[in-house]
Amino acid sequence: MIQAPRGTFDILPESAARSPVESAARRKVVEEQAEKILGAAGYGRIETPTFEATEVFARGVGEATDIVQKEMYTFDDGGGRSLTLRPEGTAPVCRAYLEHGMRKLAQPVKLWYLGPFYRAEAPQRGRYREFWQVGAEAIGSEAPETDAELIVLLGELLEALGVKDTRLRLSSLGTPATRAAYREELAAYLRAHEGELSQDVRERIDLNPMRAFDSGDRGTQAVMRDAPILLDRLHPDDAEHFEAVRALLDDAGLRYELDPTLVRGLDYYARTVFEFTSDALGAQSGVGGGGRYDGLIELLDGPPTPASGWAAGVERMLLAARDIEAPTELVDLFVALAKREGSRTAFELALEARRAGLQAQLELAGRSLKGQLRHADRIGARYVAIIGDNGTATLKNMESGDERDTEINNVIPEILRAGRLM
Ligand code: HAM
Repeated sequence: MIQAPRGTFDILPESAARSPVESAARRKVVEEQAEKILGAAGYGRIETPTFEATEVFARGVGEATDIVQKEMYTFDDGGGRSLTLRPEGTAPVCRAYLEHGMRKLAQPVKLWYLGPFYRAEAPQRGRYREFWQVGAEAIGSEAPETDAELIVLLGELLEALGVKDTRLRLSSLGTPATRAAYREELAAYLRAHEGELSQDVRERIDLNPMRAFDSGDRGTQAVMRDAPILLDRLHPDDAEHFEAVRALLDDAGLRYELDPTLVRGLDYYARTVFEFTSDALGAQSGVGGGGRYDGLIELLDGPPTPASGWAAGVERMLLAARDIEAPTELVDLFVALAKREGSRTAFELALEARRAGLQAQLELAGRSLKGQLRHADRIGARYVAIIGDNGTATLKNMESGDERDTEINNVIPEILRAGRLM
């Protein structure tokens, strides 16, 4: 048996306990709920290619991020072009927005997507190299209502799927200029307390001073209690925007924790950022997150365009919502054969039944009649039609056990009639 290397490009079930078939059916539940919830808010579905010019991510997500530095599957397409399997969906959606002239549509353009994404990370529970995301982007609006609406919609999706023990963390990053000035201030503060910090934090003062907030080291934690906070340094316009987002979330009754240390793994954020986590997950507790990315379209050579959005990990949502069970398929009719000679009639009857809107299957494995009935029972067929001689069939109601002979032409009308009475 040829096996895909573990955790590479096989479409993985979200947990070892599930088969890929079961996971595909559960993913469909996510798709249906997303369609319903996002569709009701005017989000239209978009599909973008699995790979893009590497430039889209290098510029969009940011050269300095872990994603671009370490996690991209990048290859030469044979024609001297560098392509990359998409590690995320926001930069491709913005590329499509520009390329397809969506600026000329009524703004904001509200889009959602579902599909596979790729990151070369060390696989573990809830973290895969191929994973699915459902995402939503609203491009062309600066309004705090857009951010609040997006956050509420993700909250509703998680609730509809029964994702357990969720928490929402919220913050604002202000503008890149505010952030740069704050970084300097924080780095200077850390340098002034260098002796009290862990070696790890000390070495990263210039590279990533924000990481110090996540340190497990006691000495560092003590220093960080009095460290300057980005939220206190926001420009008045950004602070006002953030206040408005918070007020709208309060009105919507959505509970959140203010987390001034919330950092996201992508560089394009400005102003609002948020993340839903689930305590039902292990180390990989982030189920979905996003924020405002007002500068991204410009990075991709477009005009200044405000935008906001999120993405949620489908496998993580499914892991944290164990109760989702895919609805069992209903089988209206199983067409069985008393003798081999009836096979063409059986084939035709199954086709006709499907055209009439029934879910119909026929015998394909050469089983004995007894075996066929056992199989029909196992797949939950409501009726079995056993093809007889001269255009007749025996129609068996599998629920009541009743059976009677009838003309083949009557099989479908009878099932449809019975269906209507039920
Ligand atoms: P992200 O936080 O990198 O954001 O990913 C969103 C979600 O995808 C995560 O919360 C997580 O559930 C899931 N995820 C990420 N990496 C993996 C992985 N290796 N295995 C399984 N699940 C994973 C973004 O991608 C942004 N594009 C979100 C966004 C949209 N921001 C604005 N618009």
